[in-house]
Amino acid sequence: ANILVLHGPNLNLLGTREPGVYGATTLADINRRLENICREQGHQLSHLQSNAELQLIERIHRAAGESVDFIIINPAAFTHTSVALRDALLGVNIPFIEVHLSNVYKREAFRHKSYFSDIAEGVICGLGAEGYQLALQAALSRCAGQA
Ligand code: DQA
Repeated sequence: ANILVLHGPNLNLLGTREPGVYGATTLADINRRLENICREQGHQLSHLQSNAELQLIERIHRAAGESVDFIIINPAAFTHTSVALRDALLGVNIPFIEVHLSNVYKREAFRHKSYFSDIAEGVICGLGAEGYQLALQAALSRCAGQA
């Protein structure tokens, strides 16, 4: 399978950013773990972190032409704001899982609204960096038609 992992704004700061909320694992560590899992199992994985909506949207558009099978996305703050990113995912019609490191439902009310959850295959939140691995496992089993 061909998997694309997208990380939204400020996730480049993982490791030092509010570690009590987001944990001590860096984004490089998260990406490396996912790459290792894909390599061991013979799958392809690409990833992008961007602080800009434009780059994330254009990466999603490109994914359609690259026959990406599944997207794993933590839209970060864009979760709560971005109709444009939602429309990009609807536009390419690639199934995706929404991931959040923190349990957004334990936090401020403005984080309870997501523009993605109602169109996602599934949502994982509050399980820290492990959430990405769980999302990858679910994505791969769906690609293989096992779930
Ligand atoms: C986040 C939760 C968002 O509310 C926040 O804006 C983030 C990260 C998470 O992974 O917990 O940047 O998506």
